[in-house]
Amino acid sequence: MTFLRSALFALALNFISGIAYANPISPIVIKFSHVVAPNAPKGKAVLFFKERAERYCEGKIRIDVYPNSELYKDKDEIEALQLGAVQMLAPSFSKFSPLGIKEFEVIDLPFLFQNKADLRKVINGPVGRWLLGRLDSKGFVGLAFWDNGFKIMSANRPIKTPENMRGLKMRIQPSRVLQIQMQAWGAVPKILAFKDVYQALQTGIVDGTENPPSNMYTQKMHEVQKYATLTYHGYLGYVVVVNKAFWDDLPDNIRANLEKALAEATAYANEIAQKENDDALVAMKKSSKIEFYTPTPEEMKAWTDTAKTIHATAAERVGTDLLEEIYKETGVKP
Ligand code: LMR
Repeated sequence: MTFLRSALFALALNFISGIAYANPISPIVIKFSHVVAPNAPKGKAVLFFKERAERYCEGKIRIDVYPNSELYKDKDEIEALQLGAVQMLAPSFSKFSPLGIKEFEVIDLPFLFQNKADLRKVINGPVGRWLLGRLDSKGFVGLAFWDNGFKIMSANRPIKTPENMRGLKMRIQPSRVLQIQMQAWGAVPKILAFKDVYQALQTGIVDGTENPPSNMYTQKMHEVQKYATLTYHGYLGYVVVVNKAFWDDLPDNIRANLEKALAEATAYANEIAQKENDDALVAMKKSSKIEFYTPTPEEMKAWTDTAKTIHATAAERVGTDLLEEIYKETGVKP
């Protein structure tokens, strides 16, 4: 009798879990992992995407967002996407290098773009499409580019010109181009995951770093750095990527709704990024924890004069044809 009752119970349980599994209204879950704070430009754009995507898909999709490297750090999140442990990410261009797509590093070159308009021309044109296409062979689909902004330089001592960078240990993203850039300025580059930057600055593992103001502020880096210089020397932005097998398996109408939500999130991301960076700069100035310096035109020339050598050294790494194509599109060549 006891046996019969427990067998019936097990049967009922199987039946119920079978229903739950096959339930047509249980949503498809997209795990979206990222490394920045929820109130950084990327963090906000991901939440915007979640809201739109879930609304357009009418309960058939749920987006679980994991900010601040909660789930994975830089390199691990890329591997997790390849393995299908997460479905979506928005890493910066540099983060694709360890995967073997070194051409993405071209965007890291200092003084490649004079402004966002030049940048957009390039990433929204054939170069951008080509870069996205490079992701296919890695099991990703590149869906969109999201803005952050131009980087400033921070350190535990004042920096006015590249001369002042000599000997400074500088945290960089995993990019050979950024390594070349820092070495050209006499600094000692050190690759660290974004999550580890605050502590590395605090404990003196590195002396300084480069990032747009919004990332500095939302990670509280200004509390562990004494000086920052508004060099705006290089660009940092994102590539929204999805696991290809997952994407290809989605029903057509779901994919179409996700694309619609993403197009709107992209417009939103690109619209808010500049203001987020401007506001972050104001907030950090107000905090009086860090001193900001704006280089004079002569000092700025000392920075831009280094571009020619850095670009020439990095050309082979990123591809000479690709670089020449970008120069052609922007009309600017150092
Ligand atoms: C960094 O590692 O500095 C940035 O790529 C972090 C980010 O995603 O903005």
